[in-house]
Amino acid sequence: MRIAVCGGTGVVGRHVVRVAAARGHEVAVLSRAEGVDLARGPEDAVDAALAGADAVVDVLSTSTLSAKGAVAFFTATTRRLLAAEQRVGVPHHVTLSIVGIDGIDASYYAGKLAQERLVAAGGVPHSIVRAAQFHEFAGQIVARASLGPVTLAPRTLTRPVAAAEVADHLVAVAEGGPVGRAPDLVGPADDTLAAMIRRLSAHEGTRRRVLEVRLPGRYGAGLASGALRGGPDAVRGRLSFDDWLGSTVRAG
Ligand SMILES: NC(=O)c1ccc[n+]([C@@H]2O[C@H](COP(=O)([O-])OP(=O)(O)OC[C@H]3O[C@@H](n4cnc5c(N)ncnc54)[C@H](OP(=O)(O)O)[C@@H]3O)[C@@H](O)[C@H]2O)c1
Repeated sequence: MRIAVCGGTGVVGRHVVRVAAARGHEVAVLSRAEGVDLARGPEDAVDAALAGADAVVDVLSTSTLSAKGAVAFFTATTRRLLAAEQRVGVPHHVTLSIVGIDGIDASYYAGKLAQERLVAAGGVPHSIVRAAQFHEFAGQIVARASLGPVTLAPRTLTRPVAAAEVADHLVAVAEGGPVGRAPDLVGPADDTLAAMIRRLSAHEGTRRRVLEVRLPGRYGAGLASGALRGGPDAVRGRLSFDDWLGSTVRAG
């Protein structure tokens, strides 16, 4: 198969590219670093990058936490992708979303819900895969929410999963053809973001003070509620956060 990975230079995207190539697929990577801006670049560049693809895997992201910004980003990129797929005849659009976000229509999750709605209504046969927070999310929060050695961790109850296992799941879904809503994927054990960051820092030997803060509003309530752990039907990943810390998949 030829698989186009939109966001193939990102945290999970790099694993999707690696897994797809290892399974013998031809892979095209779309990102700004690869010369394709999916929010505002020219349509013909998107068409050229998607030509001949049997599946598109969308693992794009934005760092904004504003609902308006997230909705604008995911709406613009998803519309452009779906329109290009219709023009060049891509038969399967796979999008990655987040477990448990129904009812948390705020902040970044407002963008993900808008994206899911567009994909479901978009006229391209699709699969929507939801995953829990990645193990790598702990490091992403350190990078985005630290002032020197102090990190603010939103109170978040989750069931984190390795991005490498999410990539395995995404490539299997891409290979299998459109299913609509695919099974959710969560990790093997409950955790909190603050505890994950503390263990990441201890593992790396970094002196870091982690302040757990309950974010206000619907977004904060949703993060803390436990909804992000997914339901009983979710597929469970096998690599725990603590095993992942010292694993070759993380080092690689
Ligand atoms: N992180 C988590 O814990 C988690 C959990 C569940 C689901 N997800 C979902 O997984 C997806 C990927 O998340 P991630 O954390 O792997 O993202 P990430 O590391 O921030 O990577 C984002 C990717 O999007 C690309 N990108 C951003 N803006 C672009 C644009 N205008 N045009 C083309 N490419 C663009 C980036 O490449 P360039 O900068 O080169 O453009 C990069 O490859 C997201 O949809 C997220 O909601 C994440």
